[in-house]
Amino acid sequence: MTLEQIKALLADMSLQEKIGQLLQLTGNFYAQEGLATGPMSDMELTQEQVDCAGSILSTVGAKQLRQIQSAYMERQPHHIPLLFMADVINGFRTVFPIPLAQGCSFDPALSEEMARISAKEAARAGLHVTFSPMVDLVRDARWGRVMESTGEDPYLNRLFCRAMIRGYQGEQVGEKDHIAACVKHFAGYGAPMGGREYNQVELSERTLREEYLPAYQAGVEAGAEMFMTSFNTLGRLPSSANRELMQDILRKEWGFDGVLISDWAAIEELLNHGVAADKEEAAYLALQAGVDIDMVTNVYANHLEQQIREGKLPMEWLDASVLRILTLKNKLGLFENPYKDGDESYDEMPEIEAAHRSFARKAAAETFVLLKNDGILPLPQAPTEQVKSIAFVGPYVEEKKICGSWSLFFRMEENVTIREALEEAAAAGKLEIPLTWGRGCQVLDYGQKRDGFREHAENGCTREELEAMEAEAVRLAREADVVVMPLGEHHEYTGEGASRTEIGIPEHQMELFRRVHAVNPNIVVVNFSGRPLDLREVSRKARAVLQVWFPGTEGGHAIVDTLFGETEPGGRLAMSFPYNVGQVPVYYSGLNTGRPHVDGAADCRCVSRYIDAPNKPLYSFGYGLGYTKFTYSPVRLSGAVLEQCQARETGGEKQLIASVTLTNTGSRPGTEVVQLYLRDLAGSVSRPLRELKGFQRIFLAPGESREVAFTITEEMLRFYRLDMIYGSEPGSFMAYIGADSNTENGAEFRLA
Ligand code: BGC
Repeated sequence: MTLEQIKALLADMSLQEKIGQLLQLTGNFYAQEGLATGPMSDMELTQEQVDCAGSILSTVGAKQLRQIQSAYMERQPHHIPLLFMADVINGFRTVFPIPLAQGCSFDPALSEEMARISAKEAARAGLHVTFSPMVDLVRDARWGRVMESTGEDPYLNRLFCRAMIRGYQGEQVGEKDHIAACVKHFAGYGAPMGGREYNQVELSERTLREEYLPAYQAGVEAGAEMFMTSFNTLGRLPSSANRELMQDILRKEWGFDGVLISDWAAIEELLNHGVAADKEEAAYLALQAGVDIDMVTNVYANHLEQQIREGKLPMEWLDASVLRILTLKNKLGLFENPYKDGDESYDEMPEIEAAHRSFARKAAAETFVLLKNDGILPLPQAPTEQVKSIAFVGPYVEEKKICGSWSLFFRMEENVTIREALEEAAAAGKLEIPLTWGRGCQVLDYGQKRDGFREHAENGCTREELEAMEAEAVRLAREADVVVMPLGEHHEYTGEGASRTEIGIPEHQMELFRRVHAVNPNIVVVNFSGRPLDLREVSRKARAVLQVWFPGTEGGHAIVDTLFGETEPGGRLAMSFPYNVGQVPVYYSGLNTGRPHVDGAADCRCVSRYIDAPNKPLYSFGYGLGYTKFTYSPVRLSGAVLEQCQARETGGEKQLIASVTLTNTGSRPGTEVVQLYLRDLAGSVSRPLRELKGFQRIFLAPGESREVAFTITEEMLRFYRLDMIYGSEPGSFMAYIGADSNTENGAEFRLA
């Protein structure tokens, strides 16, 4: 339809019909198989209102959505189609590693492809929109939703945001096998105080703008069709009522003209926040802030009409929202084909597409971060002098729940466990080394329960059975030369509503670890988690630690590939692993303070430090090992002075090249993630110790060397100055190039 036709349609709609477009319901109102991901309240809606709702969330399946759509369109007065939305976070039927793991790949193109595949599978299942990417900057590992973000760094988050949007939406969202992306949760949701879910957020305007907002803005630049408000307050104002954020920044400053949806019941929650006295006021506040869709409450549906009729609330506000929603439906091509790419044969497809599976396998290995390795990895595929047998012992050996808590549409039986992958490799003759396996314990402790936890203690085992399981595991460990221990958090211990004050491997699993360690210290820990954990003890005692996050469908294959050296662990940390929970939030790009302390420096009391723990995290941002070794030459700069950019049109040489020679000094080919960090030594406000400004994944054969160069421009030196203007200031800077955020390999230059 043309814009004129859409406007004519809008002009012809009744008030009730318009308000209907703003209502989003769960599929349960229309079908049996809807899914509620949040709390449901009694919605007090009439059948007419249900018949006019504008969108549905969390119901999938081409056949089912076709039925819903056609029945609905018959009843909708203007036959306007519904929009179907869902949380397609790290995959649909093919599940990829969780977003935090994807961040660790330092490879946005990988995420773009994962998003493209997810979009295809979701579009074939009848969906039009995914509530992804989640680009909230995260620095507090206590918060359960760190798993949904790509980490602690603004630059990295921006790149991943753009990549995912490109993957989901393609060139044009209406194209075949593409869906609309919804950037969330705007804004600052990743910084809840104390790491407690839904808690208030307090950020200075400078920190908000410089570190938290850029990834959302990248979403606008990349053309995301939708945005979602966050649950939290920012400066004590809940986002869904925050006109400055939603209208002034998002729409006016950044030019977003797409659809803004509230998070689940977030408009109604304005009452709990204490900024609205009743639902009328909540509806008013959200609409004036420009929130177009009310996710699963009746606040808009039942509390706008009278205010509009009485002239308290201008009709133009409502019309603007409805126009945006209709425009999105039009861009998706729904007026011409309300079923878009829904494909019933896909519903019935007996197996995941082979290409999707093989991509998931490769992608997972690229997100694994090798945190420690004294040389025990990779493991031998055939018996050697030192290693004649290997035992796999731990609850994740046979665990199928390896997709993370936001994987809602996969088929459990299609996930590959470590044991299945081992058996397959052994049967194919790829692994000749004798292997044994045992679970040792369950992921959750005996009888473990947590309020609101979907899956209470999932084991049917008695205490005696568990004791026998553990004894058997210890026996296997004793008899083997090497023990691989797949341990970790339960998959529902991260995600929404999963904040924790203790962030270790569950204690009963640590007991198993200690018992195994007592009989065989040759341990490789494979850690499953959705957040950085306190790994002090395992990292001290184990000979190798491989962080595998929640790796998705192909997890077992990717882990076995990596452990036995078929592939390298390709990831580098996108979020620091704290030394202990007392350090949290801990991240690499903090300020120097007036009394800086360097770990290991002479003892001195009144400096910025903990007296019982180091300042540095256990494993810092950017860190991760491969199976070979790299050396870096000192940083070379093409000049000592960078000119300000005003004269760019006169020649465009206002840039410096910073480079190093990278050499693979090990005996295996391998990939290094070469990272560029900048530091502004003195500014009008205190500047971060390091800021990531570039990285390259470089593959080198043993003995091979390559020059790796980065361009430094004035734009890269900009920040929110004392006067709150975003710009650079002349002065001295350091350019560091190295393997992680702790690198001291740097050279100084000046901005003139
Ligand atoms: C979450 C969102 C999600 C929505 C719909 C909310 O509880 O915060 O991230 O998209 O539910 O499932």
